[in-house]
Amino acid sequence: MTKRDLTRREFAIVGATAAATVALGLGGCAQGAAPAASSGSDTEASLGRATSSSQSAAHSSVPAPSTPDSSSSVAAQAAASEQSSGSKDASAGNGQPADGTGPLAIADKMLASGFAMPAFGIGTWTLSDEEAEASVACALENGYRLVDTAQYYRNEEGVGRAVRAAMDAGRDREDIFVTSKIMPSSYERAAESIDESLAKLDIGYIDLMLIHQPGSNDEAVWRALEESVAAGKVRSIGISNYYTPEHYDAIANIAEVPVALVQNENHPYYQNSQLQSYVEGTGGFVESWYPLGGRPGVAQMLADETLGAIAAAHGKTVAQTILRWHVQSGYIAIPGSGNPDHIAENIQIFDFELTEEDMASIAALDGIGRFENW
Ligand SMILES: NC(=O)c1ccc[n+]([C@@H]2O[C@H](COP(=O)([O-])OP(=O)(O)OC[C@H]3O[C@@H](n4cnc5c(N)ncnc54)[C@H](OP(=O)(O)O)[C@@H]3O)[C@@H](O)[C@H]2O)c1
Repeated sequence: MTKRDLTRREFAIVGATAAATVALGLGGCAQGAAPAASSGSDTEASLGRATSSSQSAAHSSVPAPSTPDSSSSVAAQAAASEQSSGSKDASAGNGQPADGTGPLAIADKMLASGFAMPAFGIGTWTLSDEEAEASVACALENGYRLVDTAQYYRNEEGVGRAVRAAMDAGRDREDIFVTSKIMPSSYERAAESIDESLAKLDIGYIDLMLIHQPGSNDEAVWRALEESVAAGKVRSIGISNYYTPEHYDAIANIAEVPVALVQNENHPYYQNSQLQSYVEGTGGFVESWYPLGGRPGVAQMLADETLGAIAAAHGKTVAQTILRWHVQSGYIAIPGSGNPDHIAENIQIFDFELTEEDMASIAALDGIGRFENW
């Protein structure tokens, strides 16, 4: 993303470049992205936070998942999926392009750093290096411009290979926005670990680097991030898993380089709307991890009757409906997938718009619960 002196409101949609990239044929989808092999928690193993028992406790606040196969709303989803599958340029029947270029597209976010960030992208948690490479290649082929990885995912090299392949095929580096995160076990050596991420990604610079979760010496980690910005290694910096204004301010108040955004668990069952109001008041944004409920929650979320009814009314899938809700709410969404069909499906959210009534119905789902506890 090119640095521009535009305010967030003035910032023009950059998504037009997405359409041009759809035809690149990078091979990721043609080869078929491997399904996600592993599962578990983003941070729980080496981050030393959630344990399987605490994870169960967190999940106990959420009603037991129903199987998608037995749900009538999923039947509606399947029907909707048929309607919306096929051409990547398929519209929802309302004449709007699905690829992020029409009037229902969502403008890029103008970060406090002055760099713009797409509001929609792909996540790579649980994907191996090879799986991440295939998924990111497939995503870029489908017009995605934002990729989320982390040191902890151990797939930065695969992500970097996919981005470089896209560049070799003619994609502009400025058209791709890559996020990584410093993992807590590296907080004592944050500056060195940023250099390691740069080397693994090997794409020149990192668009956005986050503190993966609160730790014991966050100020020192933040200073290392600020130094990486000054050195031109990283363009924007932010935080993850800070859920209250007080937590957010713990970094925002000491920051010399402003906090670009906070990436948190966020979905219809656990909405960060109050934090969002606060953060946006400071010029920041909320980015949603587990936008579809994550691997622990996606089946329940896709079987939700309220979401199913809204999806059916728009002729879209439940996943597309949830993702449209994220971006229409002002969040940045990064659904993870190792499935090329899902990757293609998930970006087709710019050809329909949720009504005020739809948004109110989804707002009423808030509080059902989280799927993790970090
Ligand atoms: N900062 C943090 O602490 C943190 C924590 C968690 C995640 N993250 C980031 O946020 C990203 C998103 O979270 P996530 O990937 O864990 O969860 P998610 O995007 O909410 O859900 C991923 C799950 O949804 C499935 N899925 C995706 N699209 C689908 C579709 N259209 N229909 C049906 N199922 C679909 C995927 O299966 P398939 O593979 O079969 O498509 C996968 O099982 C991560 O990938 C990661 O980059 C950050």
